[in-house]
Amino acid sequence: MNFYLNTLGELPISLEEPFTVNWTAPSNIALVKYWGKHGKQLPCNPSLSFSLRESTTTTRISFSPNKSLKVALNFQGQENEKFRERLERFFAGLGEVTHFFRHMEIDIESTNTFPHSAGVASSASSLASIALCVSSLIYHATEKEMDDGFYRLASYFARLGSGSASRSVYGRYSIWGHTSILSSNDEYAMEFKDYDPLFAELSDAILIVSDREKRISSTVGHSVMNVNPYADTRYLNAQKNVLKIIDAMKKGDLLRFFAIVEQEALEVHAMMMVANPPHLLFEPNTIEIINRIKEFKERTALPVGYTIDTGPNVHLLYFDRDKEKVMPFIEELRQFCQGGKIIFDGLGVGPVRNRIE
Ligand code: PMV
Repeated sequence: MNFYLNTLGELPISLEEPFTVNWTAPSNIALVKYWGKHGKQLPCNPSLSFSLRESTTTTRISFSPNKSLKVALNFQGQENEKFRERLERFFAGLGEVTHFFRHMEIDIESTNTFPHSAGVASSASSLASIALCVSSLIYHATEKEMDDGFYRLASYFARLGSGSASRSVYGRYSIWGHTSILSSNDEYAMEFKDYDPLFAELSDAILIVSDREKRISSTVGHSVMNVNPYADTRYLNAQKNVLKIIDAMKKGDLLRFFAIVEQEALEVHAMMMVANPPHLLFEPNTIEIINRIKEFKERTALPVGYTIDTGPNVHLLYFDRDKEKVMPFIEELRQFCQGGKIIFDGLGVGPVRNRIE
């Protein structure tokens, strides 16, 4: 891996004084999905996502020298032992990359702008904000000036915590995973910038069909791909879909763009339906919404489409310039959302380092 991390294990870094840092990072939604992993959180296929504007996590971390690794967490104003243990495992894993993390007290305070289980990937924004804090710590401890490598390093660390988080250290569109035409790779994500300006105005109405806990965790979901008889076909299709979507985005081909996005969403769900045991994550209202979107597109010929993560909630994607025409339709869909809940989000500019008060 040709960047700073190469040398990290050998760098004589130590922390003499406590260091506090605070980052806000966005959640992201994948248009071509990562589903299936191997080794240390390496993806079985490349993915392409965009970072959200409103759905973010802000994390403040104080790192202090200590005899051993100790992690404390306050998440949304409360203790959260399950998440704290996950983060302790994450930092213990970093201790294998550099000894630095083996002797540190890490005090984390983290809050999301969106409710847990709202159908927005909270692990992506959480782990990305934490990884950005870690990257800041390393740059501070090694007195390194800020450069592009900073975000690659953060993306690498984020990936170790949650694969999709690797794409949340950037704004707008990101690609993670090896492709035949870009210099992207499996270890960390990179920004994807080469698209028609139309795509700078993407909006996302997140239709909350259900805010219950996910029926299957990402960990279980990824692992069922290991024994899925259709896995290789899926990985090949995702490879092709990344190349196709890049081409559609470069050319500003909106119809092709949405055709790929919708096919991706349903293909990943199909993978779960053919797993053993099978998983069906749609609710009746998910299907109602999908059918209504199809009908709306046919009736209006507007460039809209949907994507769905591993749950029942639907992301209705549209362009800002069509907002007036799409808004009444979104209101019509509110009846299929739990408690009428819709999150109005869209393409975001990426993470922000906050001042320490
Ligand atoms: O990052 P994980 O392990 O939680 O996996 C998330 C996978 C999907 O959200 C379903 C798709 C993606 O590419 O983000």
